[in-house]
Amino acid sequence: MIDIIILKSYNELSSTVADIVEAQIKEQSKLVLPTGSTPLGLYDELVKRKLDWSTVMTFNLDEYIMNPDHPYSYHSFMRKHLFDRINIYPDDYHFPFRPTLSFEDKMTLGKGIDLCILGIGRNGHIAFNEPGSSFKSRTRVVNLSVQTRQDNSRFFDSIEDVPKQAITMGLKTIMESKKIVLMANGVHKFQILNVAMNGGVTENVPASILQNHNNVEVYYCD
Ligand code: PGA
Repeated sequence: MIDIIILKSYNELSSTVADIVEAQIKEQSKLVLPTGSTPLGLYDELVKRKLDWSTVMTFNLDEYIMNPDHPYSYHSFMRKHLFDRINIYPDDYHFPFRPTLSFEDKMTLGKGIDLCILGIGRNGHIAFNEPGSSFKSRTRVVNLSVQTRQDNSRFFDSIEDVPKQAITMGLKTIMESKKIVLMANGVHKFQILNVAMNGGVTENVPASILQNHNNVEVYYCD
């Protein structure tokens, strides 16, 4: 079981996680970062704090199988909301790529990932590890579930435009991070969050694997 820390507002969620990131990036560090609606406030808050990102390396959790320059790609999302607004070197931010093993080598080279920030999908996914993903999974190409494509269609012109495949860090890859922080926002996330943190540990609820990690913090606001 993992305690779910309930915060009063989205601003508090964003600034609480920004404090954790800020404490981390004072050192040379490697971070794993998410996309989606939930981290938008976090990224705004980090930009406002004018931190020094010049020694930081980041790795995004996932990316659609699509042209990285497409306006709806996660590359574009991250550049718009974070990377183009801070002093990180373009060579220092990474997205999952093929061959997937070289991507994992880059992540684990040296001391590995210090901090991984996650969101959670309504079906319990973390990154694009959909229900049924193996707890031993590593970075790989996956098919997206109908629910995930529906949920993400709000970022696209229509559901037909949402790619059917993505490349994602695996559950085992995520679990190798030294510290993991999961952020969830909105009442529609509470039930799955509670099942994942307090129910059985099962591949049907990918986020439940976090119960097997010894340094996880979970923050929620409605
Ligand atoms: P969201 O997505 O932040 O847009 O709700 C989270 C996720 O699906 O992992």
